Amino acid sequence: MPVHCGALILAAGKGTRMHSALPKVLQPLLEEPMLEYVLAALRPLFGDRIMTVIGHGAPAVRAAMRPTALFVEQRQQLGTGHALKTALPALRREGIHRVLVVNGDMPLVSANTLRLFMEQAGTASMAVASLMLPDPGSYGRIVRNDGVFAGIVEAKDYQNERYGVPSGEVNAGVYLLDLDAVEPLLAELSNANASGEYYITDLAGLALNAGLEVKAVPCGSDVALLGVNTPAELSAAEELLRRRIVEQHLQAGVMIHHPDSVCVGPNVRIEPGAVLYGPCRVLGRSRLARGASVEAFCTLIDADVAAGAVIHAYSHIQEAVVGEGCLVGPYARLRPGAVLEAEAHVGNFVEMKKARLGRGAKANHLTYLGDADVGAGSNIGAGTITCNYDGVYKHRTTIGERAFIGSNTSLVAPVTVGAEALVGAGSVITRNVPDGMLAVARGRQTVLPKKKIKKD
Ligand code: UD1
Ligand code: CA
Repeated sequence: MPVHCGALILAAGKGTRMHSALPKVLQPLLEEPMLEYVLAALRPLFGDRIMTVIGHGAPAVRAAMRPTALFVEQRQQLGTGHALKTALPALRREGIHRVLVVNGDMPLVSANTLRLFMEQAGTASMAVASLMLPDPGSYGRIVRNDGVFAGIVEAKDYQNERYGVPSGEVNAGVYLLDLDAVEPLLAELSNANASGEYYITDLAGLALNAGLEVKAVPCGSDVALLGVNTPAELSAAEELLRRRIVEQHLQAGVMIHHPDSVCVGPNVRIEPGAVLYGPCRVLGRSRLARGASVEAFCTLIDADVAAGAVIHAYSHIQEAVVGEGCLVGPYARLRPGAVLEAEAHVGNFVEMKKARLGRGAKANHLTYLGDADVGAGSNIGAGTITCNYDGVYKHRTTIGERAFIGSNTSLVAPVTVGAEALVGAGSVITRNVPDGMLAVARGRQTVLPKKKIKKD
């Protein structure tokens, strides 16, 4: 792409039809913001020459996106034409003369579709991507006279008497503009229309009137160009994306059982030979290595699962590392900072947070390990709790290698249990246990003759 080309994403709108407090472009699809998909489609074509117009919820949009993104703020959202006008000085500063403008609410858009559109747009002063839909709905209608493109009329302003029965050819919301040609026309945009907004779409008619070359490029019924304005459209787009991603992993050699109920995020990496059972969700920047397996009803977010590890059903894993050959769950919860070294086992109703289980260590039942470090080969008995929080501060528990913590033990942090130490079941451990020692901290059992209770 020549250096004078760039892209502009229009993302300042509120998204009223979403009925949500979240700015529309931050609405998640497979847990990634809508805008991220549009950026991902543009990056291969434009690198970092991509500018985004933000406005509604601007601080939230800035915070959610990469710090490298270029933003222009449209303080009042007076329409898509006004958004372009607002961005113009910034585009000029970047030395951009030819700009691909894309609506920010097109999460299905792909680099390929955009590349084809630009090829067909050629050197026209303005080109618009058009889409054929069975029902033109709320899309701007492409108007043609005897097949020759004559402009775009917004749905709210469309009158059959004046423009004829709509053909189903609509404006996708993707434009290629020669800024030198189009800039003088921006001043002519008017908001005297049904929405009281300055429409970017009016530029087509103005450019035609000015004798410029303006093209409407038919892009068939490519779903990549569908816009998302309502919860129903969001859900439909998310489902299309989900299927697309699952299909890509199947083709790459990932084993997916019940693929219709498997959600995999766009930034997840799965090696061929990993196995997923639906329903499950693998999201964020999760990584699954060859031979790793994730059973039904699991959620993984930013999880790193090494080769041969098995995540049994109903486990929830977030920002955690599961080493080679580990066994997790069913019903395990690994919270941020949980690290399982190779061959470690975490069983049912075990929760870990900022805690490491060394190689081959086991916590198989009903346990909480928070701010803890457990040495290799140790065994954590059922019902063990690290009491890490004193109401104000968090404290660490350190357990050496090959230690044995008896069932129903409370480890009151900060506390250290040495290597090969043994803690008796039911203990409340408040002082350090040196290497190789036995600690028992519980009431001694007394056994007394049973009193006879007489019945009257
Ligand atoms: C727009 C087009 C319509 C097209 C449809 C395709 C206009 C006037 N109409 O309609 O012809 O068929 O997209 O999906 O452009 N935005 C701003 N600033 C604003 C207003 C909107 O940045 O002041 C952004 C929005 O965040 C959104 C995009 O522009 O990402 C399009 O706005 P939206 O309100 O969704 O336009 P549509 O009614 O869908
Ligand atoms: Ca829209």
